[in-house]
Amino acid sequence: MPKKRILSGMRPTGKLHIGHYVGALENWVGLQDKYQSFHLIADYHVLTTDLKTNDIYDNSIEMLIDWLASGLDPVKSPMMRQSQIKEHTELNLIFSMLITINRLERNPTVKDQARELHIEQIIYGHLGYPVLQAADILLYKGDAVPVGEDQVPHIEITREIARKFNNQYGKVFPEPEPLLTKFARLPGLDGSAKMSKSMGNTILLSDESEVVKSKIKKAVTDPRKIRRNDPGRPEICLIFSYHNKFNPKEVSEIEAGCRSGALGCVDCKMNCASSLSAFLKPIIEKRKYLEQNLDEVRDILNDGEKRGRATAIATMDEVRTAMKFG
Ligand code: TRP
Repeated sequence: MPKKRILSGMRPTGKLHIGHYVGALENWVGLQDKYQSFHLIADYHVLTTDLKTNDIYDNSIEMLIDWLASGLDPVKSPMMRQSQIKEHTELNLIFSMLITINRLERNPTVKDQARELHIEQIIYGHLGYPVLQAADILLYKGDAVPVGEDQVPHIEITREIARKFNNQYGKVFPEPEPLLTKFARLPGLDGSAKMSKSMGNTILLSDESEVVKSKIKKAVTDPRKIRRNDPGRPEICLIFSYHNKFNPKEVSEIEAGCRSGALGCVDCKMNCASSLSAFLKPIIEKRKYLEQNLDEVRDILNDGEKRGRATAIATMDEVRTAMKFG
């Protein structure tokens, strides 16, 4: 039995943070043996909300470096840019005939994104975001797509498009399943529910220990724990949720200390910063190596794109045959 396939992707918006690791990368790394994975740098998708292209290449390389430093294996899993494999746009065109505008307008993820970014008039390509995403996934015949909760509506659209194509022209595509990421989101340093670049509340995978320390120092904690000996509420403290993830051995001791008041926030934070830096150390080392060997990074991308393209071309041949084009 050949392995089932995964297609996972991210838009290249620059250096990744620990929220990306917990919410996606860690999961991708864990899945790469069980599945044949393809990892997509969705650079065309950036255009749906930002027309400036000057930074897209550099951001793609930064993201690829973070992927590799976090343990994705380019030998097992091709990594490629959407813009370098023309079949994405070709399948996108065909898929755009298989879904109504009405259906796309009902998609909550695009609506939420438009609201967050204060977009009043949605461009055609942004409305079509999930159609291009369906092409991304189905071009590699992805059986499964590891995503967070917010992406589930997109996967549902992918399934509908696959079904519609198969009914109309004959079975070419699987109906991919979302593989939901288990770990909840990491909160941001400002106490918001989500760590995100646009909110400036992140710890980057590339942050050196001094930077981690100063970011953690400024993080908000339980506002009722004012003095060292005041009892705290770990369940509402973002530092505690970082301990939970990155310092599992000490977590029960920390919880008890915080609740009783024996442990003060300053000590708790310094401990958190050093656990985080211990976790980041191998990632930063690997990152440095890759930054100093950019030729190697470019070769990895070239090789991934070659292998990705071969799969994409094979699928498009099937699509054209099924549709009786040529
Ligand atoms: N929409 C995804 C995000 O915003 C990025 C993405 C583009 C993607 N194409 C994909 C994710 C294909 C999974 C599969 O995070």
